[in-house]
Amino acid sequence: MAYRAAIIGCGRMAHGHAHAFQEAGIPLVAGADISEQSLAKWKADFGNGQKLYTDMYQMLAETKPDLVAVVTPEQAHCAAVVAAAEAGAKGIICEKPLAMNLAETNLMIETCKRTGTVLTVSHQRHYTPQYEVARQRIEAGAIGQVLSCMAISQYMCLMTDACHTIHMMLDLMGWPKPTHLIGNIDGNSDYVYFGHRAEEGGTAYIGFEGGLFSHFTWGRCARNPDVRMFSAWDNALMNYQYIVVQGETGQIQVSGDYYEGLGPLGDRWLAREVHGDKAQVLPVVFPGPRGDITREVDDVIAAIETGKPHPLDAMTHGKTIMEILIAMYESSRRRGVVHFPVTVQDNPFLAMVDSGVFPK
Ligand SMILES: NC(=O)c1ccc[n+]([C@@H]2O[C@H](COP(=O)([O-])OP(=O)(O)OC[C@H]3O[C@@H](n4cnc5c(N)ncnc54)[C@H](O)[C@@H]3O)[C@@H](O)[C@H]2O)c1
Repeated sequence: MAYRAAIIGCGRMAHGHAHAFQEAGIPLVAGADISEQSLAKWKADFGNGQKLYTDMYQMLAETKPDLVAVVTPEQAHCAAVVAAAEAGAKGIICEKPLAMNLAETNLMIETCKRTGTVLTVSHQRHYTPQYEVARQRIEAGAIGQVLSCMAISQYMCLMTDACHTIHMMLDLMGWPKPTHLIGNIDGNSDYVYFGHRAEEGGTAYIGFEGGLFSHFTWGRCARNPDVRMFSAWDNALMNYQYIVVQGETGQIQVSGDYYEGLGPLGDRWLAREVHGDKAQVLPVVFPGPRGDITREVDDVIAAIETGKPHPLDAMTHGKTIMEILIAMYESSRRRGVVHFPVTVQDNPFLAMVDSGVFPK
């Protein structure tokens, strides 16, 4: 079947989505962005044959794309996903975080269920070679049954960056069902990221069915290059995130966001398997033969054509990630445990900023 694609939000990250459609051989027929300036740059970079609009509704109505990548800032994801689904898109790739709160998340999911649209959230590190190798070793039983996970994200904002680490933590653990969470956040600055107030960091304990658990720390405390919480960090490419999955018989350690631009690895490693005092570096071929987002697109097509569940499915995994990050904020607001399923409809962090708990 032939597909035609469009992008809503033609800024920095949209370049990755345009390259992915190109690599997948899917023509990019249209783009929409509220900024004339963004569209002018987009036209210079990718404009060949594309129709460009400042009104996404007009773009969707006139060009009727089969696939839509939503690459606006997160505050605009919900409106764009709902509009694309209502306009008949068969598949929508939405940038992370899926939404700003669970009310928006539920609306996006309900709409896409009703319209029969495949909806993914773009946690593309699922396809990044070191995480793929780590996941394959865990799935092959190399460390026995998974018991726990410890994850660190260097990034300061749960919504915008640390959500990738939550995704990867769950992805490596095999998507256990969260039962309860206790966490706290540091929002004591005027930090703004992607146009919304954001916290500087935090920490959380997450309990899962079957007695599994994880510890997650993100933000400023993990950014300091002098912090060496683990000796493994000395040689890990401690870039972006560091995750340790503990199993009955061993450990998988995985790290980094390695791009060729960062230079050769040298003695550093991206993924290791540890049994007792023996650590073995796992072979990682970087970059992979096909782009991460291209593989996300490939899997969208497979989901449309065969009904195969998408590994980045927004309705299942994406919703769980949103519940966890909202629970982290809610635990801070309540100063107590949050149980799942999470039903809080607002964004507790933004509500705490509004009510003066944290500075505006
Ligand atoms: N998956 C990843 O690794 C990754 C990396 C970076 C950014 N992101 C996510 O991608 C999204 C976009 O980030 P970016 O870095 O490209 O930002 P950006 O600011 O470079 O681009 C966003 C574009 O969206 C446009 N826009 C804003 N509101 C809009 C609306 N209502 N309708 C149409 N267009 C609108 C802006 O004018 C801008 O051109 C964010 O949600 C961000 O969190 C994901």
